[in-house]
Amino acid sequence: MTTTKIILPESEIPTHWYNVVADMPNPPAPPLGPDGNPIGPEALTPIFPMNLIEQEMSAERWIPIPEEVRKVYQLWRPSPMYRAHRLEEMLGTPAKIYYKNEAVSPAGSHKPNTAIAQAYYNKEAGVHRLSTETGAGQWGSALSMAGQIFGIEVIIYMVKVSYHQKPYRRSMMEAWGANVVASPTDQTEAGRKILEKDPDSPGALGIAISEAVEAAATREDTKYSLGSVLNHVLLHQTIIGLEAKKQFEMVGDYPDMIFAPCGGGSNFGGIAFPFIADKASGKEVHLVATEPISCPTLTKGHYAYDFGDTVGLTPLMQMYTLGHDFVPPAIHAGGLRYHGDSPLVSQLYHEGIVEAVAVPNLATFEAGITFARAEGIIPAPETCHAIRATIDEALNCKETKEPKTLFFNLSGHGHFDMTAYDKYFRGELEDYAYPEEAIAESIANLPKF
Ligand SMILES: Cc1ncc(COP(=O)(O)O)c(C=O)c1O
Repeated sequence: MTTTKIILPESEIPTHWYNVVADMPNPPAPPLGPDGNPIGPEALTPIFPMNLIEQEMSAERWIPIPEEVRKVYQLWRPSPMYRAHRLEEMLGTPAKIYYKNEAVSPAGSHKPNTAIAQAYYNKEAGVHRLSTETGAGQWGSALSMAGQIFGIEVIIYMVKVSYHQKPYRRSMMEAWGANVVASPTDQTEAGRKILEKDPDSPGALGIAISEAVEAAATREDTKYSLGSVLNHVLLHQTIIGLEAKKQFEMVGDYPDMIFAPCGGGSNFGGIAFPFIADKASGKEVHLVATEPISCPTLTKGHYAYDFGDTVGLTPLMQMYTLGHDFVPPAIHAGGLRYHGDSPLVSQLYHEGIVEAVAVPNLATFEAGITFARAEGIIPAPETCHAIRATIDEALNCKETKEPKTLFFNLSGHGHFDMTAYDKYFRGELEDYAYPEEAIAESIANLPKF
């Protein structure tokens, strides 16, 4: 009998996270303050606790995972890896397709891997309240659960369009005890600024970040927590790739290509970075970030210093960006509607170590449905982007008769995204064109110094 689920025992939950900085050919570009000079750790203390700032700036290859965090990880980790036999058969491809299933976490995505770690470190630092933003609701759900586990109050600024599209995500966050508000709100200076310009603003991750950062910077008892982009977030997510490497060893295989949806870059970094260590020692593996054509940060963005949020409250980070005031079309993959990308992913892309591809909206839903009909799991719209790219490559292998090993991250399930699927079935979804003019306008506003 061939193996479908490749399962590690709980004792194999990694004991350390992997820090890709140790294997990068060049040190990461430093974050800058408003004056254009590199900032030190103290500049981040109004919004983050020092233990996480240390991780953010660390160049150590291995960072120990605290025992308390590993204990919580045991609720769903190690996550299973699957060989997608049925999808392979359906496509008639000689390629072998594997996926890591992060949808088995209680919140339904990869996001709890860092939410649990961040709540733990904030608790250790004596923080009582956390503020954050959420797009699709996956990150908000994850932090709400983590806050509940470690006894920390959580306020969530949820992008308005998602707040209305996904009422049950909101209920889920409330079930874990969080306070959820639709961003832009009139409760912060940042939110009021946006509403003044556009009272009907659908919101965007960059706007919600501005609000959540302000909420932390203006209250003594509150720190800010981010679900992607930053180095320490990607670090925590490397548990995905580290487990996957052990799972590939169990079946005596190794991927030729790895695909992951890329919004802020955390699940892509999480699954791909541990393989960069192998690449650094000469192994050939293609690491491909997949993004929407309507928000093509890596494939059409500029590599420049920009703000992480819309209003300009965060330090400047060197990253691929569409411009901090770019508001992407309201596609149903809320987690991929971010103007920037992780500085680490951006630098590795700039240096040609990782690759990227952009895929159109309708084709991603088509791929998600093909996957659901073959493998049973209904993927999140964000995840469908990686499935599209994997299926395209598998079909390419069919043409060339190459038996490549393809691997993707099933970053989340789509159980709270059925409105989007519903619209797809009724023919109400469109292929948003690449918004060239809007991007050019926004790029013109990149900070100059
Ligand atoms: C299911 C899912 N996949 C992928 C992403 C993309 O985020 P990131 O690039 O930070 O992993 C998100 C973000 O919300 C998500 O919810």
